[in-house]
Order: sequence, then C-alpha cells, then structure tokens
Amino acid sequence: MGTNDIFILAIESSCDETSAAVIADGKVLNNIVATQSVHEKYGGVVPELASRAHQENLIPVVQEAILSSGISKDQLSAVAFTRGPGLMGSLLVGVSFAKAFAFAKKIPLIEVNHMNAHILAHFIEDPKPNFPFICLTVSGGHTQLVLVKDPLDMKVIGETQDDAVGEAFDKTAKLLGLPYPGGPLIDKYATEGNPKAFQFPITRMPELNYSFSGIKTAVLYFLRDQLKENPKFIEENLADLCASIQYSLVEMLLIKLKAAVKQYGVKEVAIAGGVSANSGLRDTLTKLAAQKGWNLYIPKFEYCTDNAAMIAMAAHYKYLKGEFSSMDVAPLAKMKI
Ligand code: KG4
Ligand code: ZN
Repeated sequence: MGTNDIFILAIESSCDETSAAVIADGKVLNNIVATQSVHEKYGGVVPELASRAHQENLIPVVQEAILSSGISKDQLSAVAFTRGPGLMGSLLVGVSFAKAFAFAKKIPLIEVNHMNAHILAHFIEDPKPNFPFICLTVSGGHTQLVLVKDPLDMKVIGETQDDAVGEAFDKTAKLLGLPYPGGPLIDKYATEGNPKAFQFPITRMPELNYSFSGIKTAVLYFLRDQLKENPKFIEENLADLCASIQYSLVEMLLIKLKAAVKQYGVKEVAIAGGVSANSGLRDTLTKLAAQKGWNLYIPKFEYCTDNAAMIAMAAHYKYLKGEFSSMDVAPLAKMKI
C-alpha cells in the first residue's frame, strides 16, 4: 500500500450494537460487532444499559478492528462516527471516543448519518446499485423510502408517520410472548405457517407514507378475544399467527415501494436496515422484482443490521469530498438524511 492510501477507523454506537471497522481506499477490511444481550430480559433496549455496555465494549472492539486490519493507529487518515439518529446516551459514547482519538492523533473527524450509512452498505461489496436508485430502509427505528441520487445526495420520499416496521415486528412478537428482539423469531416461525390463516389490517396512508401502529392494536384485541375462548390459542397457532402478521407487514412495505418505483420511474431498487434480513420480505420482493423487471439489491445479512462497516463506507465518500466535522460537533438523537 502506498503512502497516499485513505485508511479510516469507523465507530457505530447508535443503539445496542457496539461496532468498529477499518476501511482502506474504499475496501472494508473488517467489521467487529459486540451485541448487547443485556436487553433481552427487558423486552426492549434499555437506553441507560445500552450506554453503559458501549462504554465497556468500545475500546476492546476498536482494538480488535485495528489489530485485525494490519494497519497501525498511526497510519489512520481519519476517524468516523455515527452522529445520529439514535439513543443520546449511546451516541455520546461513540462521539466522545472519536473526538478524543482525532484530537490525540491530529487527524480529521467525520460524522456520519446512520440512515445514510444503512443505504451505503450496498457499496461495501458487489453488485452495487446504479444511481439513481430507490432504497426502502427498514429498521427498528425507521421506515423510509429514499431516492438516492449520489452517495451523499439522498432524499426521503416517504416514511412512517408512527412506529417503524421493526418496532411493529418486535411489539407484536412481544404480544405473542416472544423475547426481544422478536422480529427474527416471527420470521423463523412464519416459515412453518399459513400467511392467510388470520387477517390483520393493511393500513394505507396518503402518498408514499407508512403507518405501522394499527397492526399492534389489532393483534392485541384479536389475541385478547381468542385467549378468552382458548387459553392455549397462541401456542396452538404460533406459526400461523407469525405468518399472518408478517404477511400484512410485508404487504404494507411493498405497496408503497411499488408506488414509489412507478412515481419516480426508477427500476434500480434496494432494501436496507435490520428488517431487510426478513426472509418473507426478501422472497416476496425477489419475486416481485423478477415480475416487474426491477434490478434488486439486497445486502448481505451482516450489513443489514447495525454495523460499523456501513459507517466506514459513508465516511470514505465524505473523506473524498473533504467533508470533515469540527471538534465541537454534538450527537443528534433525531437527524435527517
Ligand atoms: O437496523 P437495525 O439492526 O437497528 C436499528 O437501527 O433499528 O434493525 C433492528 C430491527 C429490529 O426491530 C429487529 O427485530 C429487526 O430489525 N429484524 C428483523 C429480522 N432481523 C432483524 N425483523 C424481521 N425479520 C428478521 N429476520
Ligand atoms: Zn440501524
């Protein structure tokens, strides 16, 4: 490697994964992720516990990323971090570390928007989407349709007005008595069930927007009524319940994605974020894309959920444009693309 190579250390700490990655000239060398299991027993992420776990995990995760990259700390050209959106206490751990590191090493600091990064995860490996493309970003905190014109030029063209789709998966899973995060478990049980066994609502919002709070209430009342008749209703129907809930959620996602493709005339289509790991969404979307003649891009599983490789990828593009942050930058719990 020559002396002009761009080596960036990237940190992700927006929610409950502590992650670090090193990128060399746009090629991600590693992606170290420490998952916090402490939240399982609480049925959701406890912000206070998340920040404490980041505090414990961050240095070991960074150390592993640097060691396994084969690049020394002194060769790094910049340090990048997630500025937002996310949990304030969690973000603060990553921002403070990145600032101290940049200050000590006298290298530039690069802030990254987490939602932007979820989309840029598509540029870590081939095949890469062509610009412009439409990305459906589906995570535990967000559900957005984004028109991506360039790595650093993105426009939200539709989004949820209440819960995120990942939240809908997790909250309905909780009603079924499943542990947190329930999304992957709904996915797992759904493969054995009949998606038409029960009918849950498909909410249609104006324009390209979404609403996922209705299904949670519908499932709550439905289960309450059924359990009165048969206390074993959930265990006897778990696979069908999961398949039916997943069917409604995937339908809602795809109705607006189809509308967006039609409205913008863009046939390059991508999905990103934790829920893009869902096999029901992947399978239905793959069939739909084949039928409609779309070019579909689905990231590798490890780049769907929260990770620092995607932060590193976004930081690489910002480095090339000289977009650096000042040392007084503060995290943002809410941050627009
Ligand atoms: O992107 P992500 O890792 O974190 C956020 O930024 O929110 O997404 C986490 C969300 C959780 O709601 C989790 O239940 C959901 O992604 N998820 C899934 C699956 N894998 C993760 N939901 C449905 N099916 C899956 N296979
Ligand atoms: Zn995320």
